[in-house]
Amino acid sequence: MSEIISNAVIESILSRRSIRSYTDAQISDRELETILQAGIWAPTARNAQEINFYVIQNKDSIRELAERYSKYAFNDGKVRNFAYGAPTLILLYGKSGARFMEIDAGIAAENMTLAAHSLGLGSLIIGCIKEYLYSDDGREYATSIGISEDLSFGIALAIGHTNEPTPSKPRLEDRIKYIK
Ligand SMILES: Cc1cc2nc3c(=O)[nH]c(=O)nc-3n(C[C@H](O)[C@H](O)[C@H](O)COP(=O)(O)O)c2cc1C
Repeated sequence: MSEIISNAVIESILSRRSIRSYTDAQISDRELETILQAGIWAPTARNAQEINFYVIQNKDSIRELAERYSKYAFNDGKVRNFAYGAPTLILLYGKSGARFMEIDAGIAAENMTLAAHSLGLGSLIIGCIKEYLYSDDGREYATSIGISEDLSFGIALAIGHTNEPTPSKPRLEDRIKYIK
């Protein structure tokens, strides 16, 4: 294997980590818009551009989602802080049943997580709320915050200022096979 080439994009990809500890400080509107543009400019299958970005910066709404998700998934009276205190949560929703919807959402999320990292912000891609958001109660929550009923959850992204960095997790390199 050759030594890899280093540049700003490669550096950003290799140094990004999933952040699970945030300060209370909100990200700026300019940072938010920059990150959203990174999502908007992500490629989509057949150029469908059907992923919608719902930005939640209202603490009560994030808390309500955590409570309802925890009740649905665990029902033990404890609230799982699935967004780890991040002040911004973006829910990516796409057309229900569309062939590549979840892939499109995942690619947009990766674009946004890398953009956040390049701006010195922390972020976390979140999938654990998926089953809840597909449930009747999850759909009711989604409708209550203005998400269109004909859309389904794809993936979520939490963003904020990193409080505690996450150690790097080694990657399994033996997954690469060369057919030459
Ligand atoms: C589709 C997807 C869903 C994920 N869902 C969650 C989640 O619900 N909660 C969480 O803490 N991390 C979640 N993660 C983050 C992964 O756990 C993380 O990317 C992995 O452990 C590697 O760590 P790193 O991102 O710091 O390199 C998710 C990542 C992906 C790609």
